[in-house]
Amino acid sequence: MSFDLVLFGGTGDLAWRKLMPALFQAFRHGTLPAEGRITGVARDDMSHEQYRTLIQSRFNSVEGAKRPSDEEFQRFAALLHYVRLDASKAEDFQRLRNHLEERNADTVVMYVATAPGLFTTVCEQLATAGLNTPKTRIVLEKPLGHDLASNRAINQTVRKAFNENQIFRIDHYLGKPSVQNLFALRFGNALFEPMWRREHIANIQITISEDLGVEKRGAFYENTGALRDMVQNHALQLLCAVGMEPPINAHADAIRDEKLKVLRSLKPWTSETLTHHVVRGQYSAGAVGGTAVPGYRAEFGVDPQSHTETFVALRTEIANWRWAGVPFYIRTGKRLAGRDAHIEVNFRPMPHAIFANTGNTANRLVINLQPKDGLELHLMAEGQGTRSGSAGQTLVPVQLDLDFDKRFGAERVGAYERLLLDVLDGRLNLFVRSDEQEAAWRWVEPILNHWKNDTVGPRLYAAGTWGPSASSAMIARDGFCWSEEC
Ligand code: BG6
Repeated sequence: MSFDLVLFGGTGDLAWRKLMPALFQAFRHGTLPAEGRITGVARDDMSHEQYRTLIQSRFNSVEGAKRPSDEEFQRFAALLHYVRLDASKAEDFQRLRNHLEERNADTVVMYVATAPGLFTTVCEQLATAGLNTPKTRIVLEKPLGHDLASNRAINQTVRKAFNENQIFRIDHYLGKPSVQNLFALRFGNALFEPMWRREHIANIQITISEDLGVEKRGAFYENTGALRDMVQNHALQLLCAVGMEPPINAHADAIRDEKLKVLRSLKPWTSETLTHHVVRGQYSAGAVGGTAVPGYRAEFGVDPQSHTETFVALRTEIANWRWAGVPFYIRTGKRLAGRDAHIEVNFRPMPHAIFANTGNTANRLVINLQPKDGLELHLMAEGQGTRSGSAGQTLVPVQLDLDFDKRFGAERVGAYERLLLDVLDGRLNLFVRSDEQEAAWRWVEPILNHWKNDTVGPRLYAAGTWGPSASSAMIARDGFCWSEEC
């Protein structure tokens, strides 16, 4: 299969940090279809050769084993081309069209990795230039809008030019091997499914913590914040993967239908829950890994009075037969104590204790997403006999620990590599449908509105901690605790 991959934003951050390295890995692994061409598109005036040199220089910041040797890069570079394009100029899209017609590839992928403000312009221009043919697929990066109305407007424009099955909305969390494993755990094994419900599960916690700050993205982040950046998409997609019903098959729409049902079942917000079940925070100066770091308001591009949240913790429920009454907690933030994403499934305690010290014992399944990819099943075992001299046995906690990186090797297909190959293959399973996206925006919007009217602003937390204490207080009110506190 021959393909033409056009990368709008071809000199941008995403292109060189994520997309080019992922395309190179696919090339190296021999999974990129052989007859391919990758065309970077941006406003700068550059020759193909200059573009190749630019990409090569950027590869220097790619971590060791993933960096190409000079010889490998020369072979990869043969795929790279460049077209100068100003998204506001119809004639530039004609030039792109001429470039694509030179080759007439079987599949054309338009990857829009530009500032979100350009999504609709690019789609309209593609349609005007006749570049929305049936063999074309369009890939859109998040954020797709900043609220429900803007999301809908973008989706409407895109759908005027392309059919839904040509539109690939990326949520890179869905491409992570650990998230694939979550689907495998739930729907490739019969063991957990009977337990996966309110009768056996006390609560579920989803944590996506980052130790990095906003880096150089202060200006972007100021208008985004953690709720739009992480909760509306990545965290809710994880919640769907944990909470959805088993789909009838593994086809894209069967999976997306079930995820959509979860999003539609999320308990609607009330003024009471908006006040008590959502905590927003912002990091102040502190230390991460022993190094002093500035507070958010001192970051480049950030308003010194900013109310933008860099942390969110919330409690919700999926109001259906399987999950009624089970709290789902989501927590995400920047400049927290470490880089750690995991889902914790806390089972209900034993109904009756026959051993000493096991009254409240509850089993726990931890799905580690990153940096480790694996599963921990926390159980109780008889450890040291009865040496303590106490009457009856004393049990101790132990865990079954499955490390997928060790089991399958650390050289697994990365999220963007996987997703790009899926686009080339036309597989939509791991991409978000417009109705899912709208349902997610509909659910987060009351929180955004609530904050708009709240003049107090986010609670400060010192960089390098687990966020404001209100986050612990919120979960403690239900009688639970975050894993690091229990
Ligand atoms: C992106 C957010 O979608 O996800 C970033 O815009 C965040 O702010 C990133 O840092 C986290 O992704 P990962 O794969 O590093 O967990």
